[in-house]
Amino acid sequence: MSRTRTVLVCQHKTCPKQGAAMVTQAFRTQAPEDVQVQSVGCLGQCGNGPMVLVLPEKIWYAQVTVRDVPKIVEQHLQGGKPVTQKLYSKFHPHKQSRRIWLIAIGLVLGLLGLLLWLIASQTYYF
Ligand code: FES
Repeated sequence: MSRTRTVLVCQHKTCPKQGAAMVTQAFRTQAPEDVQVQSVGCLGQCGNGPMVLVLPEKIWYAQVTVRDVPKIVEQHLQGGKPVTQKLYSKFHPHKQSRRIWLIAIGLVLGLLGLLLWLIASQTYYF
């Protein structure tokens, strides 16, 4: 069973002001034949556009320009690897922010361990 890939480009209020029509046209001329390109209503992320949603994998791109389209077509639609620089951070948090969260959790756990050690040893320094 093959699932047709679809590129949705918002054409509602703010996205057209940010170039959504030209982005749509660029996808229509550059996307592989087996990819459908559709203009759609608001994708609910106004102000971050032009918003592009690739289905069925639910990959969101934000602030897409005509210059971004060839890379998205080549790397994602043909190569299967999303373009991380253009991913919408609300739905695809960057690895950098994940790393910061892991460091923060590590620090909290380290401090908690130190506190437990101080309590267990009944040695108070504060
Ligand atoms: S106007 Fe494009 S996401 Fe709402």
